[in-house]
Amino acid sequence: RKPAGAPAEELARPVRTVGIVGAGLMAGQLAVLIAQRLRVPVVMREINDERVAAGLDGIRAIVGMLTKKGIAADETNRILGSISVSTDLRSLAEADLVIEAVTEVLELKQRVFAELEDVIATDAILATNTSALSVTEMAKHLRHPERVVGLHFFNPVAQMPLVEVVRTASSSDQAVATAFAVAKKLRKTAVGVEDHPGFVVNRLLLRMLAEVVGTVENGTPVTVADVALRPLGIPMSPFALIQLVGPQVALHVLDLLHTNLGDRFPLSPGLERLLAEGRRVAGAPDGHGAELSADPAIQD
Ligand code: 3HC
Repeated sequence: RKPAGAPAEELARPVRTVGIVGAGLMAGQLAVLIAQRLRVPVVMREINDERVAAGLDGIRAIVGMLTKKGIAADETNRILGSISVSTDLRSLAEADLVIEAVTEVLELKQRVFAELEDVIATDAILATNTSALSVTEMAKHLRHPERVVGLHFFNPVAQMPLVEVVRTASSSDQAVATAFAVAKKLRKTAVGVEDHPGFVVNRLLLRMLAEVVGTVENGTPVTVADVALRPLGIPMSPFALIQLVGPQVALHVLDLLHTNLGDRFPLSPGLERLLAEGRRVAGAPDGHGAELSADPAIQD
């Protein structure tokens, strides 16, 4: 059955090479999964040699986990061999689909897309893995805004079954169909969502996480909050989840929700304090990921 919001599958553009801008946390996980399941070359771009080296280290670590899970050396070598990382944007020239996963700053993402337009084919698709920024804003100064679509993955990328496909008013059927086709090959459940702040998942998730932090600030022990949430099917302690997502990303999404949707989405002084102080949540047991340290950058 066709997923809700998906145009006809035959409208999808063939994807023989994937480009990824950024080689951080989400980008590295995406590269490995794409190399594994799409079985196409993945060409990544970072801004300096240091970040290229760090990106490659991250990719080797993810592939190392695949080895531990019993994936054969032939396959892990194939995956590693199909991923390249460099500082040269022109290395993405052959990409049929480019996914940007750079820092969550609108102007930066706009610049990345503008620079890509000078390099890639006129009908190549541009996707963003943004957590909550406006995809419409990202596309609006481009020569071909119709090629832009949101392809929002969740952390950990290999384990999370959902992908949000964000359609703007100007996204073409081809761009949206390609996003759905890629998600399907990655064996994800894709849902079509509107270009609203926080899309669907982050709008719900961050509101919940902020409330949990507020409850704990008001005196509820972390362990009680965890136990209280368990019957709702929350698979992980909310504090571990904040740590996994990155406290800065969480705050950034909340800030956007507050700016765009008003007081129904209050800011979380508790979350801000946790991040600013880089401190451990009082009463958090070991192994609950409650050690909230400041991230050096907001990386989506
Ligand atoms: N990175 C990569 N893989 C991980 C991982 C991590 N941090 N943590 C666990 N895994 C893998 C394990 O290796 C294991 O893989 P396998 O089944 O192939 O062996 C699998 O996940 C299951 O791990 P465990 O059995 O140890 O643990 P759980 O059964 O508790 O599952 C979990 C771990 C899948 C991470 C689960 O706790 C979970 O679903 N947590 C919620 C995560 C979530 O909500 N993510 C969304 C965040 S929001 C976001 O990313 C959007 C952004 O825009 C802010």
